[in-house]
Amino acid sequence: MLEHDLSYFQSTTRERDRIDDYEVNQVINCLNLNNQELLQGQEFKLNKSQSLGASDSAHDVFFLQTKPNSKNIKPIIVACKRFRRSENAEKEVINIKKISRRGFKTFQFFSKGIYEVEDVGTVLTTRLIPQFITMNHLPWRDYFLGQKEFVDRTQKPLETIGNFISTMHSQGIAHEDLQLKNIGKDQTNQFIIFDVENSIVNDEDKIDDDDFIDYVGEDIRTFLKSLVDKGFLYDSTEAIFLNAVENYFLTPYLENLKINNDHLLTLIGHAIDTCLEDRSVKNHKI
Ligand SMILES: Nc1ncnc2c1ncn2[C@@H]1O[C@H](COP(=O)(O)OP(=O)(O)OP(=O)(O)O)[C@@H](O)[C@H]1O
Ligand SMILES: [Mg+2]
Repeated sequence: MLEHDLSYFQSTTRERDRIDDYEVNQVINCLNLNNQELLQGQEFKLNKSQSLGASDSAHDVFFLQTKPNSKNIKPIIVACKRFRRSENAEKEVINIKKISRRGFKTFQFFSKGIYEVEDVGTVLTTRLIPQFITMNHLPWRDYFLGQKEFVDRTQKPLETIGNFISTMHSQGIAHEDLQLKNIGKDQTNQFIIFDVENSIVNDEDKIDDDDFIDYVGEDIRTFLKSLVDKGFLYDSTEAIFLNAVENYFLTPYLENLKINNDHLLTLIGHAIDTCLEDRSVKNHKI
């Protein structure tokens, strides 16, 4: 009974998450009204061409753009992310600030960042990162070991992601929703940490704590699951898949990691087991 109630609650709240035209207009009006000085007579309008984000978003992220009224002014483009609960938006803001202070690239707030918008909820506004892409859009399913494209299109990106994740973990950041769609890059190929509402930013001298290591292990589990979900080496044997994960992800990850901890190795072992189970369930369905 309890389970039934919960799933009903989740499905109704999920539908309420979809943002409609009225709500978008409410956000536009709120931002125009609250930023008159900054906007210098310009107004925000919906930017429909920036639709990439929407396909990756559970929050219906949408983009607004100003139309400059003089050649000397650059248009301002902001991404708007709606949260149903203001506490969650605040957690994201706090984590973005902490992550930026640790020297990682993340989103920058537009103006005061958070807006309470009538009939809509809490909206987080960040400056658009041009040509932003997520690792979800790499061709994980298309190339296989032995094909010459595999090295450039799949293996090398996986190695750089492994290095990036270990740098993040070594500096006390566990993302806690580390799916491929939540690992970003800009046009200079710099990694971007974002969607950090549930992230943990630990004291830098306490990265060996078991509690923090549990969060780190969860990142590895989530990441491997999302690789399986995207069809990485889906057609290969388990042994080939496992070898590739070890050689091209876990080895660069562990070599670059400043944490040396047996508990972590155990958690990584569990993460691999779960990912092999996921994979065999998926392959049976194909
Ligand atoms: N400042 C920005 N610059 C460029 N793109 C952005 C920006 N903010 C959000 N996006 C786009 O919106 C997408 C979703 O953002 P984010 O992951 O923060 O929201 P989400 O709805 O929580 O996603 P999820 O479904 O993972 O929970 C990003 O992948 C990105 O494409
Ligand atoms: Mg996301």
